[in-house]
Amino acid sequence: MGSKRHTIQLSSEDRQITIEHGQTLLEALIAAGVFLRADCGGKRRCGKCMIKIAESSRASVSQADETEAKFLGARQLAARSRLACCTEVLNDTAIEIPETSRLSPEVAQKGPTILFDKLTALKASAAEMIDGYGLAVDLGTTTIAVYLCNLAAAEVTASISVRNPQVLFGDDVMSRIGAVGQNEDLLLRLQKMVVKAIEWGTNSLCRSTRIEPGKIQTMIVVGNTTMIHLFVGTDPTSIGMFPYNPQFVEEQIFEAPKVGFRFNPNTTVRTLPLITGFIGADIVSATLAAKLSHTRPGTMLVDVGTNGEIMFLGKEGLVATSCATGPAFEGAAITYGMHAVSGAIDAVKIDGSNGVTCSVIQKDPARPKKIAGLCGTGVVSAVAELLRSKMILPDGAFNRQTDSKQLLLGDNDTPEYVLAGPGETEGDRTITFTQKDVRAIQLAKGALRTGIDLLCLEAGIERPQKILLAGAFGSYIRKKDALTIGMFPEVSEEDIEVVGNAAGAGAILALFDDHILAQANELRQSTRVLDLASHPNFQEIFIASLEFPKTALS
Ligand code: FES
Repeated sequence: MGSKRHTIQLSSEDRQITIEHGQTLLEALIAAGVFLRADCGGKRRCGKCMIKIAESSRASVSQADETEAKFLGARQLAARSRLACCTEVLNDTAIEIPETSRLSPEVAQKGPTILFDKLTALKASAAEMIDGYGLAVDLGTTTIAVYLCNLAAAEVTASISVRNPQVLFGDDVMSRIGAVGQNEDLLLRLQKMVVKAIEWGTNSLCRSTRIEPGKIQTMIVVGNTTMIHLFVGTDPTSIGMFPYNPQFVEEQIFEAPKVGFRFNPNTTVRTLPLITGFIGADIVSATLAAKLSHTRPGTMLVDVGTNGEIMFLGKEGLVATSCATGPAFEGAAITYGMHAVSGAIDAVKIDGSNGVTCSVIQKDPARPKKIAGLCGTGVVSAVAELLRSKMILPDGAFNRQTDSKQLLLGDNDTPEYVLAGPGETEGDRTITFTQKDVRAIQLAKGALRTGIDLLCLEAGIERPQKILLAGAFGSYIRKKDALTIGMFPEVSEEDIEVVGNAAGAGAILALFDDHILAQANELRQSTRVLDLASHPNFQEIFIASLEFPKTALS
């Protein structure tokens, strides 16, 4: 890479940014803070970073390669569409960023803090509590939830969800670990990004409630192990390679200015302890909020994200495991996948062999958005409906015998099911559910189900007695759809309880109750960890878990 620099003209923004000769468009756009979708973090695996090169700039960029041909096809390449992570800039260039490639300004919401809201008894002891305010932060890979809490009243005064700006470096933790591994200067940058986002959310809450930020005395932060490492500025690279060990597991306590917070130099920040590289402070927090140790043995807490974390109360105490569900349940790694924001399909209904109806998230009904893709719950709903209507078979293959007009043959003669067509979609695209998407969901649900089944096997029980479903995905998914695709063993819908953002609820509780902090440390030490990959039955159960249940077809 030389020192020669070029300009990139962003047509829709009347804005110019500069780029080093030979740098990719994605690198330049991220550096300039342009919120472009880059679900795989620039690893050429998601196809979501599509931009359009101006006719006059065709020769100013590198030639399209095989990856672009695979994701875009000949027609889109001829129309000058390119993938930003694959396109190197060789001269001054003008580009256009389609709406579908931009990160929505709207933020996907975390689930409600149901478990905290149930705890009315806490308020009875609130009189002993100190005056002032506290912040509970659930630091998610995609969304950060910030709760401003009145310590004396033991209540949440206001809350806000903020996008985790690190999504520019990928939707999942492995992409961010990889980014830091390749460029160690990024560690400080990623830390600053997340601290600024929390501070922005805090200032915004303080403004709307007219509370002086200087009154914030304490902050509890929970999140997965990688997010906690990035938050405290510790290199997470070791989490990304065998034996996947974190740099620390203990709780971290420090003064807010140490990581760059400016609202009150005396605020004490605490992160809850971690268990392993993939069993983090979020599941510790959720376990305490759900009082899992006090439930009946056989109760399982499941938090599904890009990594599935499961905590199970067996007869001999708590056992935890994590499974590599990947980003499919969050809508990433799916051809038309997206976050759960306006314009996302969140449920699908297939009637007979011809009709399909989609329910679409519309946060502002006065300004409805066209269909832009499917979020995680929409993806599960689509697979469940395709199974029920026999469009796909238990092995996941599309049923070529069907005469549905919705079933098309796409690239390489591979079937794909049309969910929405031009006229109703953003950019007049045909939004389909492809064979590759079905396979991605099979892998994701197979990984989750393997974790659940092996925990049961270890505990000597056939299936969980009760499943507590935590997290944003778990808050909005239809239980029936999850059961249809075999994400969970055959339990009744009543035995699945949605507990919302349990990690956030635990962080709020920890602000009010010092016992929670002590219990978190105890839980870290007493929880047994089940390593799935080294289990002798792993391979056999994983392969069996890839199939969809035959009962969906009866
Ligand atoms: S393919 Fe370009 S960011 Fe994923």
